Amino acid sequence: MSLRVHPVLFLSIPRLQRIVSARMRLLVLGSGAGGGVPQWNCRCPNCTQAREERDLPFSKNVFRHTQASIALREAGEPWLLVNASPDLCSQFARQAELAPPEGAMRASPLAAVALTDGQIDHATGLLFLREGTELTLVCTDPVWKSLGSSFPIVSVLRHFLPVNRLSYPAQVGSLLLEALPLRAGPAPYEAPSGESGHVVALRVTGKKSGGCVVYAPGLPEISSELADFVAGSDCLLVDGTFWSEEELAPMSRERRRSILGSHLPISGPGGTLEWLAKLPIPQKLYVHINNTNPILDPGSPPAKEVKEAGVGIAYDGMLLSLYSPHS
Ligand code: MLT
Ligand code: MN
Ligand code: ZN
Repeated sequence: MSLRVHPVLFLSIPRLQRIVSARMRLLVLGSGAGGGVPQWNCRCPNCTQAREERDLPFSKNVFRHTQASIALREAGEPWLLVNASPDLCSQFARQAELAPPEGAMRASPLAAVALTDGQIDHATGLLFLREGTELTLVCTDPVWKSLGSSFPIVSVLRHFLPVNRLSYPAQVGSLLLEALPLRAGPAPYEAPSGESGHVVALRVTGKKSGGCVVYAPGLPEISSELADFVAGSDCLLVDGTFWSEEELAPMSRERRRSILGSHLPISGPGGTLEWLAKLPIPQKLYVHINNTNPILDPGSPPAKEVKEAGVGIAYDGMLLSLYSPHS
């Protein structure tokens, strides 16, 4: 009989302590696409199951997903919120990790909010941060312009608190934020424009932990630039809006066009699963999952296919701890 020794036992205690304490934390606040699950006007099987969960404790929810948003932080620092969902208040309320820091009656747990786009499901939550004393917003020029004009959230917020804006690349505490513009048009409320930067993939690297995360809740294409951008990351959270075009058929023409214009399907040739399955990244997850998507049912063949390809399905409240062994 051979004796197996876990590799972690070979690490010195100080190194072990450093690994444990220096990890970057990533909290999935919401994992659903626009409208969440259940969507208020939908009776599809996923939404029906999600309604059945209304009286279950949060940790027992399977089908329920609030609108996508994540939070990241390095040890000893406040959180970076990535996208501000319309569900922000309930997402904060149920996360002990996001409680205001001790020491004062009013204190923000947030250092800044970074946006991947200015869409309704990613920007509306900014309005619910108005009780703060100031807000730092990291976004691209076209998104900043939209939020001051066509969807004037920032103009409204400025009646409540100062809004400081940073562009990419930005440094927030020990976090380095870099953005890759994707070939997607502006948000549906905005006039068509060929300008780049309406939607980006965001890469966050922690200087303390060495951890690196890429978040891309809207992915309209897989390019060589994207492949370079994600290479070497420890965790990749990718647009899982829909499985195949079939499920979009009952939608209004406008909604279907908006989804097809800025998201790739998971399944089929050219879909994201085929790409993700081959990527040598330790943790790969689908996020921004639409209520129509069959992967929301853990027993469905599509959910099993995703799992077998080595890709996870993010859920609300999922907490990851990231550390780069190379740092
Ligand atoms: C999207 O992800 O395409 C948008 O959330 C669509 C929308 O705002 O309805
Ligand atoms: Mn969306
Ligand atoms: Zn539904």
